[in-house]
Amino acid sequence: MLVNIKSLFTLAAATALVRGQEQATAPEDSAVVRLTTDTFEDFVKTHPLVLAEFYAPWCGHCKTLAPHYVEAAAALESKNISLAQIDCTVEHDLCMEQGIRGYPTLKVFKSNQFESPAEYQGGRTADAIISYMVKQSLSPVTVLEGEDAAADFKDLLEESGQPVIVDSGVEGANATFYELADLFRDDFTFVQYAQEGKGNLAIYLPKSDDPIVYDGKQTTLADLLEWLSVETKPYFGEISGETYQSYMASGLPLAYFFYSSPEERSTYEEFFTKLGKEHRGKLNFVGLDASLYGKHAENLNMKEQFPLFVIHDLGKNLKYGLPQLSEEEFEKLEKSLELKTKDVAKFVKDFFAGKLEAVVKSEEIPEVQESSVFKIVGKNHDEIINDAEKDVLVKYYAPWCGHCKRLAPIFEELAEVYAFDSDAKDKVLIADVDATLNDVNVEIEGYPTLYLYPAGNKSVPVVYQGARTIESFLEFIEENGSNGVNGAEILKRKAAEQEAAIEDGDAEEEEVVEEAEVEHDEL
Ligand SMILES: *[C@@H]1O[C@H](CO)[C@@H](O)[C@H](O)[C@H]1NC(C)=O
Ligand SMILES: *[C@@H]1O[C@H](CO)[C@@H](O)[C@H](O)[C@H]1NC(C)=O
Ligand SMILES: *[C@@H]1O[C@H](CO)[C@@H](O)[C@H](O)[C@H]1NC(C)=O
Ligand SMILES: *[C@@H]1O[C@H](CO)[C@@H](O)[C@H](O)[C@H]1NC(C)=O
Repeated sequence: MLVNIKSLFTLAAATALVRGQEQATAPEDSAVVRLTTDTFEDFVKTHPLVLAEFYAPWCGHCKTLAPHYVEAAAALESKNISLAQIDCTVEHDLCMEQGIRGYPTLKVFKSNQFESPAEYQGGRTADAIISYMVKQSLSPVTVLEGEDAAADFKDLLEESGQPVIVDSGVEGANATFYELADLFRDDFTFVQYAQEGKGNLAIYLPKSDDPIVYDGKQTTLADLLEWLSVETKPYFGEISGETYQSYMASGLPLAYFFYSSPEERSTYEEFFTKLGKEHRGKLNFVGLDASLYGKHAENLNMKEQFPLFVIHDLGKNLKYGLPQLSEEEFEKLEKSLELKTKDVAKFVKDFFAGKLEAVVKSEEIPEVQESSVFKIVGKNHDEIINDAEKDVLVKYYAPWCGHCKRLAPIFEELAEVYAFDSDAKDKVLIADVDATLNDVNVEIEGYPTLYLYPAGNKSVPVVYQGARTIESFLEFIEENGSNGVNGAEILKRKAAEQEAAIEDGDAEEEEVVEEAEVEHDEL
């Protein structure tokens, strides 16, 4: 399971926020425009650039924002940039249409893109709003021409704290370049600067004079997006709430260096930058501030002993870490560790050679199965689900999850149905795994998650989304499993046998109860 580091960051950000006492609704005489369900669309379509705040009068963050919003609105009015407010406690329909789920939500609308507003991504102070919105109103591409162009270009490279993407006159790529620039105007600086003898696309990373030249044949938007996603990353980056998503999205393995102090980070900067350059496009390298996010080590199956080096293969969800000390050894060292660069270099080499063994989080394989539901652990998960003869239904659960607890007796009963029949018990396996204690390479979005791995068709698992009743599970396994075991029929036989074992008097009583229930249903 991928544990989301983002929650750590969100928490830190939330506690840092200070709440003001102001009104959330802008005063009548301010430059903020109040819009309603009736006036919204028309206004947005006739104004070139609109920042819309969807809010609720009681919301604390909205109150904090209010004075800044009013100030920014006044400053931007003359530039034809409008700031609007929509009170979602009144304008239910509009806010529903806009998919508003939290307050305040800020969206940027351009008159020609009413259907596809962009999330506002700037800060929440007047200055931040002003500079963000002014930037939105300008062309996303800086065109450098004339005699000063060379000097301007040099300045721009020096001053821009972000990657600079340069089009030096690629034929037929102008429209795509503008499209790209519009998408990433906040993250990168886009420049058109035609130079003699050039005609390519290049990226200049901050503090680097070496352009990274695009060598792809096509310049479609998809090609360029892919190129940017790899090449705009620093050779040795930093993981934070903002960068985490882009590293996850790249899908490349991620090598973490957990450091304890800024000094420690800078000692290793050159070393990791070199490694990052060498393995560009195959492995990303990042630093992580252990004093803030050290707990993330646990998600990577490592102990909180820093500095620490660990590679997370995102595709396979496998984690590889440089060996760590036992708790006692670590105490003895008085917690001062040394990370040798030559060990790291060798480790990375071995990673690519496939020589490393992953650190798998797993409970011990049980010696005896204590329940009729087969208990899977991290170490044997893949082997069990890939049993070629069996349809294997697995419940991925967390011990604290209420839905999982309610499902447990039904699962138990389900397992007993197949165990009851000598043929079926070799064809269907009902299993579960505590996904908080065991690494499994399965996408889990909530607990419980249920997957069926059909016999002879293991690469196409089927997610169970039906009702959580025994009948529904039995039907699902019959239809979606490869062995077509008729569980309903077994259940009937099993029930009949049990009934036969019950004394006559009791059985009659049961029947009466059932009849009564049927009648009740029909009423
Ligand atoms: C503001 O936008 C309107 C509508 O697009 C346009 O007619 C007007 O000329 C613009 N004014 C300025 C100062 O840009
Ligand atoms: C490139 O496209 C932009 C946006 O459509 C346009 O304003 C600009 O004139 C174009 N430049 C060239 C050289 O065609
Ligand atoms: C494997 O599963 C797919 C999708 O459920 C199905 O279309 C296909 O017929 C199955 N193949 C076999 C051999 O059962
Ligand atoms: C079989 O799986 C599909 C896909 O998840 C589902 O729509 C269908 O309802 C399942 N069949 C039964 C009988 O549950």
